[in-house]
Amino acid sequence: MNPTPTAPAGLFISFEGIDGAGKSTHIAGLADAFEAQGRNVTLTREPGGTPLAEKLRAMVLNDAMDPLTESLLVFAARRDHLLTVIEPALARGDVVLCDRFTDATFAYQGGGRGFDLAVLTTLEQWVQTTPALKGGPLRQPDLTVWFDIAPEVAAARLADARTPDRFEAQPVAFFRAVANGYSARAMAAPERFARLNAEQPREAVWGDLLAQFDQRGWLKR
Ligand code: TMP
Repeated sequence: MNPTPTAPAGLFISFEGIDGAGKSTHIAGLADAFEAQGRNVTLTREPGGTPLAEKLRAMVLNDAMDPLTESLLVFAARRDHLLTVIEPALARGDVVLCDRFTDATFAYQGGGRGFDLAVLTTLEQWVQTTPALKGGPLRQPDLTVWFDIAPEVAAARLADARTPDRFEAQPVAFFRAVANGYSARAMAAPERFARLNAEQPREAVWGDLLAQFDQRGWLKR
């Protein structure tokens, strides 16, 4: 009897960095690279990734609100996204490439807005508990790629960008606090984070990114 072919294990990868760090084109490139090697890819983003979560995203990005409301909305969006997109995709063995996840909440709401990290930690526990998010270990990405860039450099890149949203319109000092928030999360879970120097030319960032996946045996060059 032929052995039943085993489905590849799902991979959950998130991408983080302050606005203007330049992660989007690299995420699209990685999706192509995984698909070229025969993997199914779920390409998604936060806040967003489901019809409900996209509605919440529009509120968070455009409507004035206090930091607790903002935190509750991004975690509500995350819960829906996890239940209806991320968990099913991982169960199928997909590579899930997620443009931002919970580290963004710790960086933007915690660092940028100065909101209570203990409350964020409680919400993280509530929202990200598996299996099927009803009990068990906390769901976290297998790898978080952090596009690290000085806030001044990112601001110069964003200067010509489209009409800024509530976050993109913030001063450099806000992004300095966001960057510190990312740094604290990376220091607390160094095995999960891969830091890239996002100030380099695009090709060099791409090379460093591929090296991270090559090193883990996830993509062959
Ligand atoms: P994007 O511009 O990379 O799509 O991200 C949307 C904005 O939302 C970005 O400025 C960061 C912000 N954000 C938060 O403030 N908290 C979160 O939890 C997430 C996921 C994003």
